[in-house]
Amino acid sequence: MSKQQIGVVGLAVMGKNLAWNIESRGYTVSVYNRSSEKVDDMLKESVGKQIVGTYSVEEFVSSLESPRKIMLMVQAGAATDATINSLLPLLDKGDILIDGGNTYYKDTIRRNKELSEHGIHFIGTGVSGGEEGALTGPSIMPGGQKEAYELVAPIFEAISAKVNGDACSIYIGPDGAGHYVKMVHNGIEYADMQLIAESYFLMKNVLNLSADELHEVFAEWNKGELDSYLIEITADIFKKKDAETGKPMVDVILDKAGQKGTGKWTSQSALDLGTPLPIITESVFARFISSLKEERVKASKVLSGPAPVLPEGSKEEVIEAIRRALYMSKIASYAQGFAQMRAASEEYDWNLQYGDIAMIFRGGCIIRAQFLQKIKEAYDRDPGLLNLMLDEYFKEIVESYQAALREVISIAVKNGVPVPGFSTALSYYDSYRTETLPANLIQAQRDYFGAHTYQRVDKDGTFHTEWLED
Ligand code: ATR
Repeated sequence: MSKQQIGVVGLAVMGKNLAWNIESRGYTVSVYNRSSEKVDDMLKESVGKQIVGTYSVEEFVSSLESPRKIMLMVQAGAATDATINSLLPLLDKGDILIDGGNTYYKDTIRRNKELSEHGIHFIGTGVSGGEEGALTGPSIMPGGQKEAYELVAPIFEAISAKVNGDACSIYIGPDGAGHYVKMVHNGIEYADMQLIAESYFLMKNVLNLSADELHEVFAEWNKGELDSYLIEITADIFKKKDAETGKPMVDVILDKAGQKGTGKWTSQSALDLGTPLPIITESVFARFISSLKEERVKASKVLSGPAPVLPEGSKEEVIEAIRRALYMSKIASYAQGFAQMRAASEEYDWNLQYGDIAMIFRGGCIIRAQFLQKIKEAYDRDPGLLNLMLDEYFKEIVESYQAALREVISIAVKNGVPVPGFSTALSYYDSYRTETLPANLIQAQRDYFGAHTYQRVDKDGTFHTEWLED
């Protein structure tokens, strides 16, 4: 029997859709799943397709062309290790394992190292775009051995989303680089969603906009600088009515946000690297506080806020200020995400190419947006750019939109509407642009109580003061 060009293990919806996507580009695909019903089900749904079902790891591995290319689409964590361990004795040197799960990047670093000791290449790849993206064209972020990537690059490029003819798949860097970038992508997605949610909340609670009016606002915003998948679906969401009650769908959904942990990982990495990532981190915390629903309901009966204060200016002016606040905060958020990738790239020696990363975020994935082209252009202008806000395009926007962000935050504060994302975006901007922060006092305190020493503004060296001596 002829051998297949690639194998996919794990036939839950992501694995199945990815296998069909690969097959649809003219490749032959073997599939395998631990429980055989999923193989049977997939074969039933694959009539006329070049999909070969296999029912044991032995049958699966021997059905593949050499060097074997095996895509793992199993649950991240222990399942991935278990699957690798079942395949490993059957593989030959030079075979390529590809983990397309939402894997923690440190696991990918470890697996890459362990497998390379067996002569097996290991690519950890971010696959973004959800079920639909997996089937029709995801954004793909592969990390691992470059020479192994070259062997799978034609397949990845064929199955990925395309923007202006460019494939949204590019080699990211060694070992865990791909999964790291996917993780930061998800963190950025948390922040984008939080900032959009704050914009909605202000328009609903301060301007009293109806769901239909909110639909109009977001649809309008999607025609300009904010043009993006998330703004587009937000506009759609406000149009949808609940079949049972006839109310806007958004009004019958409980305000408790779930999460699967990738935002938290991004923040944990920021803390480990010592890089400021406040907008994404606030967005994670905002989900946590949302999940304290029962506590908030109780607190709302005990703790009061201010009386409502009508904002100055017309409704249209306030909506435009919120749009500007959203765009400026989004810029600050991406500045943080990209600065964190820079810190990680230095820490792990990944040589990340930030413009390329912005390019592959442009299509297929949840954060796809016109604006990513601007990030690409910024890194084309200066590959060593320290912070996106220092680029000429972004500098002009943040300088001119800061007044709106300040105004919007003050409207929120006066009305007692929480805007953690907007507030921290502005604090980041103000901290980053401030030559002298009050950390001199913190250093004095540390030296006072713990003799931690400090540096001086007027000469080099390390100093300590006996604070209690006259
Ligand atoms: P779903 O709930 O959609 O099936 P899942 O539980 O995340 O998704 O599992 C995704 C894939 O990981 C499945 O193919 C699953 O195999 P089974 O269908 O046999 O459950 C696979 N998977 C989970 N744990 C596994 C393990 N320990 N070893 C091998 N495969 C595993």
